[in-house]
Amino acid sequence: MRVRFSDLELDEDRRELSRDGEPLLVEPRVFDLIAYLVRHRDRTVSKDELLEQLWPDRDVQDGALSVCVHRARRLVDGGGTPAIQTEARRGYRFIASVRLLREGAGAAQGRDLLVGRSRELAEVHRAVEEVLPGRLRTFEVAGETGVGKTALLEELGSYGLHHRLEVWRAAAPTDAPAEAFTLWVQLIAAYIARYDARPIRRAMGEHLECLARIVPGLRRWVTPGAAETTAEDSDLARLKLMNSIVLAVKAATAHKPGMLLFDDIDHSDADSMAEMRFVLDACADVPVMLGVAFSREADVPGGLLKQMRSLPGHRRLVLRGLDEQAVRAMLEQISGAPVGDAILDAAMRATNGMPLLVEQWARENFSRCSGAL
Ligand SMILES: Nc1ncnc2c1ncn2[C@@H]1O[C@H](COP(=O)(O)OP(=O)(O)OP(=O)(O)O)[C@@H](O)[C@H]1O
Ligand SMILES: [Mg+2]
Repeated sequence: MRVRFSDLELDEDRRELSRDGEPLLVEPRVFDLIAYLVRHRDRTVSKDELLEQLWPDRDVQDGALSVCVHRARRLVDGGGTPAIQTEARRGYRFIASVRLLREGAGAAQGRDLLVGRSRELAEVHRAVEEVLPGRLRTFEVAGETGVGKTALLEELGSYGLHHRLEVWRAAAPTDAPAEAFTLWVQLIAAYIARYDARPIRRAMGEHLECLARIVPGLRRWVTPGAAETTAEDSDLARLKLMNSIVLAVKAATAHKPGMLLFDDIDHSDADSMAEMRFVLDACADVPVMLGVAFSREADVPGGLLKQMRSLPGHRRLVLRGLDEQAVRAMLEQISGAPVGDAILDAAMRATNGMPLLVEQWARENFSRCSGAL
């Protein structure tokens, strides 16, 4: 989630709160508090709920929460206007007006919504509802470059957060070779950054050492020298590592359903893909949703897609160019003005409804003839 309120911008993925583009120094728990209140700004959030969210593993007193709220207010109460309101005996509510932002060009142009994807979104919304009772659900998003796969994954992540799923994202690098297990390393590292790794640490036991070999953030908890004591057969070591990632996923979803989103898996390393198959096998009864996106099916290990497609409730979304109505909506969002038929025809001919091309086309044409639009 990326949002703007007063003169601040909050980027949940990057865990950054910034003013005029300058990141502010924010304690992790204060950041979590602000983000949680913003996400649930449609209601008053009780103190108990906040204590549970911010200190999931510890019994703390209300006083700790008051201190946290006080620090948050110092950051977000712009020019004397309160952003966080205290509701006597009930809790806190975020009341400043919030605008959702999206990544990339859309964000720069102030566009908030995906257009023309209601069918795909409805499909995945149904899948989220199926995850909640405690089931593994999977989906794949395929389609040509620039058709809107990443944008759809983002939208799904927001929907998941809204439904109180924990959302974790990872993407294979598209401009360099991927390192072993890169997708899982990203996920676990993000988890540690958000939660201080306590649940994983407790659930992992000796497996923590395996995981610490690929996730540097875990090393400080490993007993010095313990990992090096046995000269293990490398196959065995790999198997242990693969198991330890499964355990980490189970630990992370033990108290709250999760959504794991993997973008650009056609650029992934083979170990990340093998692990995904392993997780799919081991997590049938885990409340977790696993979504992947890719352009070139030939570059995704066939076994993975076959396995996914054989699972109950799997959803396959193949994105195509947007229709005329959606392209018109996109152009109108970008230009901020009604778009006539002649312009729409020209845009359709030039872009075939591919959102990335529509954005480029709009940039080129709207600046050149903005007077006429
Ligand atoms: N349905 C849509 N409505 C409005 N804007 C969209 C839509 N789909 C995509 N866009 C915008 O089009 C651009 C390209 O989309 P995106 O990056 O999601 O494509 P992609 O399929 O992930 O591309 P790649 O194959 O390069 O990863 C983005 O700026 C995105 O915000
Ligand atoms: Mg993409």
